[in-house]
Amino acid sequence: MSFSAAEVEANHARLEQRNAVHRRFGYDPEVSVQYVLEQAMPLRGRVLDIGTGKGRFVIPLGRQVASVTTVDVSAEEQRYARLEATYAGVADRIRFVILDARFLPWPAASFDAVLSWNVFHHLDDPERVFSEMLRVLKPGGKLVLADFSPSGFRVMGEIHAAEGRRHPHPPSRFAHWQAFLQRTGFQVRRLCGKHQELLVARRIL
Ligand SMILES: C[S@@+](CC[C@H](N)C(=O)[O-])C[C@H]1O[C@@H](n2cnc3c(N)ncnc32)[C@H](O)[C@@H]1O
Repeated sequence: MSFSAAEVEANHARLEQRNAVHRRFGYDPEVSVQYVLEQAMPLRGRVLDIGTGKGRFVIPLGRQVASVTTVDVSAEEQRYARLEATYAGVADRIRFVILDARFLPWPAASFDAVLSWNVFHHLDDPERVFSEMLRVLKPGGKLVLADFSPSGFRVMGEIHAAEGRRHPHPPSRFAHWQAFLQRTGFQVRRLCGKHQELLVARRIL
């Protein structure tokens, strides 16, 4: 897929404007992504990202790993992410796949790491996606699940309210998933950054 330089520039300018709005409310998506990536490293082998969105996470991730596959149910969102990956010069390191993460097409134990950033509060069936992420993770592999912390949700709520919209804020499942992972053979770290809640888990059994 190739884009005109004008499309790539316009998409980047839109994303920058949106990030600037977030920063005015006290939330910097780039800082949050860096925080999560620092906690997630080292990463190696085949890496899967769930919920491409506009590519805020998978693009910096693509700079860190040799090859990453990212999935999103929305072709429109993935197009924005592809445009931004082109702007960032990492499009050739990222494989974009349009699909519903409730039904991942890969066999069990296909990936060395499976990550997701700020997606789970948008999911209709987070348990199903969580179990798919675990199914495709290899023994010894790493699961990284990040979503907004209470203060992150507060800021996002304020931004959306100022725009006359509502930001989804389902109850956090992190404590439940942490306990589940610990029971099922994972070493788990649960962290809370300024705006991010995070599980970093390694499959040891
Ligand atoms: C807020 S965005 C996530 C942010 C993104 N990780 C980034 O780095 O910019 C949430 C994304 O989840 C996607 N999504 C929602 N339900 C999904 C599903 N069942 N399978 C795959 N993607 C889904 C949406 O289309 C949307 O692009």
